[in-house]
Amino acid sequence: MAILLNNYGSDNGQWQEALAELLPAMPVYTYPDIPDPDAIKYALVWNHPKGDLQTYKNLRCILSLAAGMEHLMNDPELPDVPMVSLGDPAMSRDMANYALYWLMDIHRNFDHYREQQANKNWLRIDTTITDEYKVLVLGLGRIATLVSQTIQQAGFDMKAWDFKEKQVEGIDSYAGEEALKSLLPEADVIISCLALNERSQQLIDNDFLQQVKKGASIINISRGGIIDEAALLDSLDSDHLHRAVLDVVAVEPLPESHVFWTHPKVRITPHMSGPTYARSAAKVIIANITRMEDGQDPQPIFDRNRGKQAPD
Ligand code: GLV
Repeated sequence: MAILLNNYGSDNGQWQEALAELLPAMPVYTYPDIPDPDAIKYALVWNHPKGDLQTYKNLRCILSLAAGMEHLMNDPELPDVPMVSLGDPAMSRDMANYALYWLMDIHRNFDHYREQQANKNWLRIDTTITDEYKVLVLGLGRIATLVSQTIQQAGFDMKAWDFKEKQVEGIDSYAGEEALKSLLPEADVIISCLALNERSQQLIDNDFLQQVKKGASIINISRGGIIDEAALLDSLDSDHLHRAVLDVVAVEPLPESHVFWTHPKVRITPHMSGPTYARSAAKVIIANITRMEDGQDPQPIFDRNRGKQAPD
C-alpha cells in the first residue's frame, strides 16, 4: 500500500518529509518514479498528466493538493473513486488576509498616498465610513466563508452571494441570478472566491460589469476563468471600474506581453493569495487517509456534478 505524490514537480522534498513524519508506515512514490503502480491506494495530485490516475488499479481516493478541483475535472479519464478537495485552514487564512489587505488598499486609497509620497504631497483624501463601504463576496464555500467573516470583523458592510442558497451564521447571504442583479449596483468592492466550473465560467462578463456600480473594484482570488478578461479591460478603460486586483488570470503565468502587467488600474500577484504549505496541508491529508484506513469517509468529498449547467 502506497501514496502517489504528484505535485507538478513542486516542493517534493517538503511534501515527502511532511508525509513521512505523519505517516511513516506508508511509502510515498513521487511521480514519475513509481516502483509498483498496483500498490498505490491514495493519489495526492495537482495538475497530473491526464489519464495517469486510471493506471492505478487499486486506487481508493484522489486527494487534491489544491482547494480548486478543476485541474481534476479537466481529465476525461478520471477513475470513479471519491475525490477530496484540500481544506487547509492555513491556506484559507492567507486568502482571507489577502482579500482584506487589498480591500483596505482600495478603500483607504493607499495607492494615492504612495504617489503622494513620491511627490512629497501631504494631503488627506476623503473616504467612506467603513461600515458604509459595501463589499460583495461571490461564493460561500469554505474559503469564501472565512473571507466574508474576516471582512465583516473588519467592520465593512458585507454581503455574500452564491448560485445556490447557503446559510452561514452571521453572514448576510443571497442566492440566485435575481439577487445578484440587485447586489451588483450597490457594491464598492466585489471579491470572487467562486470555484471554476461550467456555471461560474466567465460569470464576470460584459453584462455583469455593466450592472456594477461606476467606480467599483474587483478582486479575484479564485480562478482566472471566472472573468471575461476582454470585458474587464473595456470596463477599466472606459473608467467604469476603478481597479482590478488579480491573483489569478486565464493563462498562468501571465504572458509577458499581456496588457495587465502594465495597466495602471490592474494589480497583479502570481497566484499566491493562498499558498499550499506542505507542513500544514499534509496534516489535513493524512487525517483523511487515517479516516479512510479506519473505515470512515474523507472530508470534504467533492461532488462531481457541482456547477454543471444542467438544472440541479
Ligand atoms: C489554489 O489555487 C488552490 O486551488 O488551492
